[in-house]
Amino acid sequence: MANKENIANKPKSLSHLEAAGLPLVGVSAWQALVENIRLSKDQKILIHGGAGGIGSMAIQLAKHLGAYVGTTASINDKQFVQELGADQVIDYKKENFEDILHDYDAVFDTVGGETYKRSFRVLTKGSGIIVSMLEQPDSELMSQYGIKALFLFSQVNRQRLTKLAQWVDQNNIKVNVAKTFPLDEAAKALDYQKDVHPRGKVVLMVASQE
Ligand SMILES: NC(=O)c1ccc[n+]([C@@H]2O[C@H](COP(=O)([O-])OP(=O)(O)OC[C@H]3O[C@@H](n4cnc5c(N)ncnc54)[C@H](OP(=O)(O)O)[C@@H]3O)[C@@H](O)[C@H]2O)c1
Repeated sequence: MANKENIANKPKSLSHLEAAGLPLVGVSAWQALVENIRLSKDQKILIHGGAGGIGSMAIQLAKHLGAYVGTTASINDKQFVQELGADQVIDYKKENFEDILHDYDAVFDTVGGETYKRSFRVLTKGSGIIVSMLEQPDSELMSQYGIKALFLFSQVNRQRLTKLAQWVDQNNIKVNVAKTFPLDEAAKALDYQKDVHPRGKVVLMVASQE
Protein backbone atom coordinates (compact mmCIF):
# COMPACT_ATOMS: atom_id res chain seq x y z
CA MET A 1 0.00 0.00 0.00
CA ALA A 2 1.25 3.51 -0.79
CA ASN A 3 2.39 5.61 2.18
CA LYS A 4 0.21 8.75 2.34
CA GLU A 5 3.29 10.86 3.03
CA ASN A 6 4.67 9.94 -0.39
CA ILE A 7 1.69 10.57 -2.68
CA ALA A 8 0.02 13.67 -4.09
CA ASN A 9 -2.53 14.63 -6.73
CA LYS A 10 -1.21 14.29 -10.26
CA PRO A 11 -0.72 17.45 -12.36
CA LYS A 12 -3.98 18.26 -14.15
CA SER A 13 -2.20 19.08 -17.41
CA LEU A 14 -0.63 15.60 -17.76
CA SER A 15 -2.29 12.32 -18.71
CA HIS A 16 -1.97 9.47 -16.22
CA LEU A 17 0.63 7.94 -18.54
CA GLU A 18 2.76 11.08 -18.56
CA ALA A 19 2.28 11.63 -14.82
CA ALA A 20 3.60 8.11 -14.17
CA GLY A 21 6.89 9.18 -15.70
CA LEU A 22 7.23 12.31 -13.58
CA PRO A 23 7.89 11.63 -9.86
CA LEU A 24 11.46 10.31 -9.72
CA VAL A 25 12.93 12.45 -12.49
CA GLY A 26 10.95 15.56 -11.54
CA VAL A 27 11.73 15.36 -7.84
CA SER A 28 15.43 14.71 -8.59
CA ALA A 29 15.64 17.85 -10.73
CA TRP A 30 13.65 19.83 -8.13
CA GLN A 31 15.88 18.76 -5.24
CA ALA A 32 19.04 19.58 -7.21
CA LEU A 33 18.12 22.95 -8.72
CA VAL A 34 15.69 24.44 -6.20
CA GLU A 35 16.80 22.94 -2.88
CA ASN A 36 20.53 22.29 -3.27
CA ILE A 37 21.83 24.71 -5.89
CA ARG A 38 19.15 27.37 -5.28
CA LEU A 39 19.51 28.36 -8.90
CA SER A 40 18.53 31.93 -9.63
CA LYS A 41 17.90 34.22 -12.57
CA ASP A 42 20.86 34.85 -14.89
CA GLN A 43 23.08 32.20 -13.29
CA LYS A 44 24.77 29.73 -15.63
CA ILE A 45 24.22 26.00 -15.16
CA LEU A 46 25.66 23.04 -17.03
CA ILE A 47 23.33 20.02 -17.06
CA HIS A 48 24.98 16.76 -18.05
CA GLY A 49 22.79 14.23 -19.84
CA GLY A 50 20.21 16.84 -20.84
CA ALA A 51 18.23 14.43 -23.03
CA GLY A 52 17.81 11.90 -20.19
CA GLY A 53 14.86 11.57 -17.85
CA ILE A 54 16.31 13.76 -15.11
CA GLY A 55 18.25 16.06 -17.45
CA SER A 56 15.20 16.88 -19.58
CA MET A 57 13.24 17.94 -16.49
CA ALA A 58 16.23 19.90 -15.20
CA ILE A 59 16.57 21.91 -18.43
CA GLN A 60 12.91 22.96 -18.27
CA LEU A 61 13.18 23.84 -14.57
CA ALA A 62 16.42 25.81 -15.03
CA LYS A 63 14.88 27.88 -17.84
CA HIS A 64 11.81 28.53 -15.70
CA LEU A 65 14.14 29.82 -12.95
CA GLY A 66 15.69 32.22 -15.47
CA ALA A 67 19.11 30.58 -15.80
CA TYR A 68 21.36 30.26 -18.85
CA VAL A 69 21.57 26.53 -19.65
CA GLY A 70 24.45 24.63 -21.18
CA THR A 71 23.95 20.90 -21.62
CA THR A 72 25.75 17.81 -22.85
CA ALA A 73 23.89 15.45 -25.18
CA SER A 74 24.54 13.39 -28.30
CA ILE A 75 24.07 15.06 -31.68
CA ASN A 76 20.84 13.10 -32.24
CA ASP A 77 19.39 14.76 -29.16
CA LYS A 78 20.48 18.32 -30.00
CA GLN A 79 17.14 19.52 -31.34
CA PHE A 80 15.26 17.83 -28.50
CA VAL A 81 17.23 19.62 -25.76
CA GLN A 82 17.04 22.93 -27.64
CA GLU A 83 13.26 22.59 -27.77
CA LEU A 84 13.29 22.07 -23.99
CA GLY A 85 15.14 25.39 -23.68
CA ALA A 86 18.89 24.63 -23.68
CA ASP A 87 20.92 27.68 -24.72
CA GLN A 88 24.13 25.84 -25.62
CA VAL A 89 24.47 22.17 -26.51
CA ILE A 90 27.77 20.29 -26.34
CA ASP A 91 28.00 17.05 -28.33
CA TYR A 92 29.55 14.86 -25.64
CA LYS A 93 30.81 12.30 -28.17
CA LYS A 94 32.81 14.85 -30.19
CA GLU A 95 33.57 17.83 -27.96
CA ASN A 96 35.20 18.40 -24.57
CA PHE A 97 32.76 20.55 -22.64
CA GLU A 98 35.50 21.77 -20.28
CA ASP A 99 37.37 23.35 -23.23
CA ILE A 100 34.27 25.30 -24.26
CA LEU A 101 32.41 26.33 -21.10
CA HIS A 102 33.84 28.56 -18.36
CA ASP A 103 32.74 30.48 -15.26
CA TYR A 104 29.61 28.46 -14.65
CA ASP A 105 27.80 28.89 -11.32
CA ALA A 106 26.57 25.31 -11.14
CA VAL A 107 26.82 21.84 -12.66
CA PHE A 108 24.09 19.22 -12.35
CA ASP A 109 25.65 15.85 -13.14
CA THR A 110 23.43 12.93 -14.19
CA VAL A 111 26.30 11.03 -15.86
CA GLY A 112 29.15 10.58 -13.35
CA GLY A 113 32.65 9.15 -13.83
CA GLU A 114 35.12 11.26 -15.82
CA THR A 115 32.31 13.67 -16.72
CA TYR A 116 31.98 14.47 -13.01
CA LYS A 117 35.71 14.99 -12.50
CA ARG A 118 36.14 17.18 -15.60
CA SER A 119 33.20 19.36 -14.51
CA PHE A 120 35.17 21.09 -11.76
CA ARG A 121 37.11 23.00 -14.46
CA VAL A 122 33.93 24.61 -15.79
CA LEU A 123 32.92 26.15 -12.46
CA THR A 124 33.82 29.56 -11.03
CA LYS A 125 36.59 29.06 -8.49
CA GLY A 126 35.56 29.73 -4.94
CA SER A 127 31.79 29.92 -5.49
CA GLY A 128 30.73 27.13 -7.89
CA ILE A 129 28.62 24.15 -6.88
CA ILE A 130 28.27 20.67 -8.39
CA VAL A 131 25.43 18.30 -7.55
CA SER A 132 25.76 14.73 -8.75
CA MET A 133 23.21 11.93 -9.01
CA LEU A 134 26.02 9.39 -9.09
CA GLU A 135 29.22 10.57 -7.42
CA GLN A 136 30.08 11.16 -3.78
CA PRO A 137 31.87 14.49 -3.23
CA ASP A 138 35.55 14.33 -4.21
CA SER A 139 37.29 16.25 -1.40
CA GLU A 140 40.55 16.59 -3.35
CA LEU A 141 38.84 18.25 -6.32
CA MET A 142 36.69 20.34 -4.00
CA SER A 143 39.69 21.92 -2.29
CA GLN A 144 41.76 22.15 -5.51
CA TYR A 145 39.02 24.18 -7.25
CA GLY A 146 37.29 25.75 -4.23
CA ILE A 147 33.99 24.15 -5.20
CA LYS A 148 31.07 22.88 -3.12
CA ALA A 149 30.09 19.33 -4.11
CA LEU A 150 27.04 17.30 -3.10
CA PHE A 151 25.69 13.82 -3.84
CA LEU A 152 21.93 13.84 -4.30
CA PHE A 153 19.76 10.97 -3.11
CA SER A 154 16.28 11.41 -4.58
CA GLN A 155 13.51 11.34 -2.02
CA VAL A 156 9.98 11.53 -3.34
CA ASN A 157 7.52 12.92 -0.80
CA ARG A 158 4.17 14.65 -0.77
CA GLN A 159 5.55 18.16 -0.30
CA ARG A 160 7.94 17.89 -3.26
CA LEU A 161 5.35 16.17 -5.49
CA THR A 162 2.80 18.89 -4.74
CA LYS A 163 5.21 21.71 -5.63
CA LEU A 164 6.30 19.81 -8.72
CA ALA A 165 2.70 19.30 -9.86
CA GLN A 166 1.96 23.03 -9.44
CA TRP A 167 5.05 23.95 -11.45
CA VAL A 168 4.12 21.45 -14.21
CA ASP A 169 0.57 22.77 -14.44
CA GLN A 170 1.55 26.44 -14.42
CA ASN A 171 4.31 26.11 -17.01
CA ASN A 172 3.09 23.56 -19.52
CA ILE A 173 5.97 21.20 -18.62
CA LYS A 174 6.40 18.15 -20.81
CA VAL A 175 7.16 14.56 -19.78
CA ASN A 176 8.40 12.54 -22.73
CA VAL A 177 6.99 8.97 -22.68
CA ALA A 178 8.99 6.85 -25.12
CA LYS A 179 7.03 3.59 -24.83
CA THR A 180 4.52 1.79 -22.65
CA PHE A 181 4.32 -1.88 -21.67
CA PRO A 182 1.61 -3.81 -19.80
CA LEU A 183 2.66 -4.64 -16.24
CA ASP A 184 3.06 -8.35 -17.01
CA GLU A 185 5.69 -7.41 -19.61
CA ALA A 186 7.89 -5.60 -17.09
CA ALA A 187 10.89 -7.76 -17.99
CA LYS A 188 10.51 -6.77 -21.67
CA ALA A 189 10.33 -3.12 -20.61
CA LEU A 190 13.63 -3.45 -18.74
CA ASP A 191 15.27 -5.06 -21.79
CA TYR A 192 13.91 -2.31 -24.01
CA GLN A 193 15.31 0.34 -21.67
CA LYS A 194 18.72 -1.35 -21.63
CA ASP A 195 18.99 -2.27 -25.34
CA VAL A 196 17.26 0.62 -27.11
CA HIS A 197 18.11 3.34 -24.56
CA PRO A 198 15.14 5.48 -25.64
CA ARG A 199 14.83 9.21 -25.19
CA GLY A 200 12.14 9.58 -22.55
CA LYS A 201 10.45 7.40 -20.00
CA VAL A 202 9.30 3.79 -20.28
CA VAL A 203 6.00 3.41 -18.43
CA LEU A 204 4.32 0.24 -17.16
CA MET A 205 0.52 0.17 -17.46
CA VAL A 206 -1.26 -1.43 -14.52
CA ALA A 207 -4.61 -1.39 -16.33
CA SER A 208 -5.41 -0.94 -20.00
CA GLN A 209 -6.18 2.65 -21.08
CA GLU A 210 -9.81 2.77 -22.18
N1 LIG B 1 21.05 9.25 -6.57
C1 LIG B 1 19.78 8.94 -6.77
O1 LIG B 1 18.94 8.94 -5.85
C2 LIG B 1 19.32 8.63 -8.18
C3 LIG B 1 17.94 8.66 -8.47
C4 LIG B 1 17.54 8.45 -9.80
C5 LIG B 1 18.49 8.21 -10.79
N2 LIG B 1 19.82 8.17 -10.46
C6 LIG B 1 20.83 7.96 -11.50
O2 LIG B 1 20.90 9.15 -12.26
C7 LIG B 1 21.36 8.85 -13.57
C8 LIG B 1 20.49 9.55 -14.61
O3 LIG B 1 19.18 9.05 -14.56
P1 LIG B 1 18.17 9.25 -15.79
O4 LIG B 1 16.90 8.60 -15.41
O5 LIG B 1 18.14 10.68 -16.20
O6 LIG B 1 18.92 8.39 -16.94
P2 LIG B 1 18.65 8.34 -18.51
O7 LIG B 1 17.24 8.69 -18.81
O8 LIG B 1 19.19 7.04 -18.96
O9 LIG B 1 19.55 9.54 -19.08
C9 LIG B 1 20.92 9.53 -19.16
C10 LIG B 1 21.30 10.47 -20.29
O10 LIG B 1 22.71 10.71 -20.24
C11 LIG B 1 23.21 10.68 -21.57
N3 LIG B 1 24.64 10.40 -21.53
C12 LIG B 1 25.28 9.20 -21.47
N4 LIG B 1 26.61 9.40 -21.41
C13 LIG B 1 26.81 10.74 -21.44
C14 LIG B 1 27.94 11.57 -21.40
N5 LIG B 1 29.20 11.07 -21.32
N6 LIG B 1 27.77 12.92 -21.42
C15 LIG B 1 26.53 13.45 -21.50
N7 LIG B 1 25.41 12.73 -21.55
C16 LIG B 1 25.55 11.38 -21.51
C17 LIG B 1 22.37 9.62 -22.25
O11 LIG B 1 22.42 9.83 -23.63
P3 LIG B 1 22.69 8.66 -24.72
O12 LIG B 1 21.34 8.18 -25.10
O13 LIG B 1 23.43 9.41 -25.78
O14 LIG B 1 23.53 7.59 -24.05
C18 LIG B 1 20.98 9.92 -21.68
O15 LIG B 1 20.32 10.92 -22.43
C19 LIG B 1 21.33 7.31 -13.70
O16 LIG B 1 22.66 6.82 -13.59
C20 LIG B 1 20.51 6.87 -12.49
O17 LIG B 1 20.88 5.58 -12.03
C21 LIG B 1 20.25 8.39 -9.18
